[in-house]
Amino acid sequence: MRKKIVAGNWKMNKTLEEAVALTSEVVNMIKDEVTSDVQVVLCPPSLYLTTLRQYVQGNSRIALGAQNCHEKASGAYTGEIAASMLKSIDVQYVILGHSERRQYFGETNAQLAEKVNISLENGLTPIFCCGESLEQRQSSDFIGFVKNQITESLFHLTPEAFGKIVIAYEPIWAIGTGLTATADQAQEMHAALRQHIGEKYGEEIADNTSILYGGSANAQNAAELFANPDVDGGLIGGASLKSRDFTTVVKAA
Ligand code: 13P
Repeated sequence: MRKKIVAGNWKMNKTLEEAVALTSEVVNMIKDEVTSDVQVVLCPPSLYLTTLRQYVQGNSRIALGAQNCHEKASGAYTGEIAASMLKSIDVQYVILGHSERRQYFGETNAQLAEKVNISLENGLTPIFCCGESLEQRQSSDFIGFVKNQITESLFHLTPEAFGKIVIAYEPIWAIGTGLTATADQAQEMHAALRQHIGEKYGEEIADNTSILYGGSANAQNAAELFANPDVDGGLIGGASLKSRDFTTVVKAA
C-alpha cells in the first residue's frame, strides 16, 4: 500500500524564531489531533534543518526534508548543499525539480536525473516535482509534457530505486495563484502518471508510488482533492506556513 504524505514546502520564508514556533505548533497539533498514519514532511529553508531536528527527533510521523540539493557529491560549488550533508544531519526527504527551481535556476530534466541519483545514493527520498504551465495546458499535449518530465528524470532508475521515489504533480498555473486544479483535473493527471509508471515498471510499483498534488491546496479544498483515488496527499506551499491551516490539510489526508 502506498503512503499518504503531506509535505510543507516553506520556500524562502520564516526567520529562525518563526520556524521554531511553527514546527513546535505543528508537532503538538499533529500529536493531539491527527490519528491517521499520514506521513508529515516539513521542508524549511535548509539552514534551519539542524535546529528543527530536535523538535521532530524520535517522532516517526514527522520527518524533515530539504527544498533542493546539488547534483555533485562535493567540491567547489559555492553556496550549494550536497545530498551527503543533508544525510549527515538526518534529513530524510528532498524536494527536487520544483517549478520555481526549473524556472528561476534553469534546472533541466537531465540535471534533475543526476540530483535524483545522488539523493538516492545518500538514502534520501526525493519528492520529484513535475507539472505544466498554463500555456502548455491550453495549447499542447500537457499530459505528454508531464509524462516526459518523469521519463527523462526518473526512467533510468532500476525498479528498486524507482520504488523509493515520491512524485508531486504541481501545475505551475496553480502555484501561489489561488487557482487550484479541480479534483477532476488532478485525478486525470495523477491517473495518467500512474499508468505511465505502470507501463515502465509494472502495476505493483505504480500502485505503490505516492503521487502528491500541489498548487494552492489549502484547508478548504484539501479534502476534496485528497478524496481522489490517485491523489495520495499534497505538497503544500502557502498553507504550510500557518500551523492551523497545515494541520487541517494533514487531517484531510
Ligand atoms: P502553494 O500551495 O502556495 O500554491 O505552493 C505550492 C507549491 O509550490 C508547493 O511546492
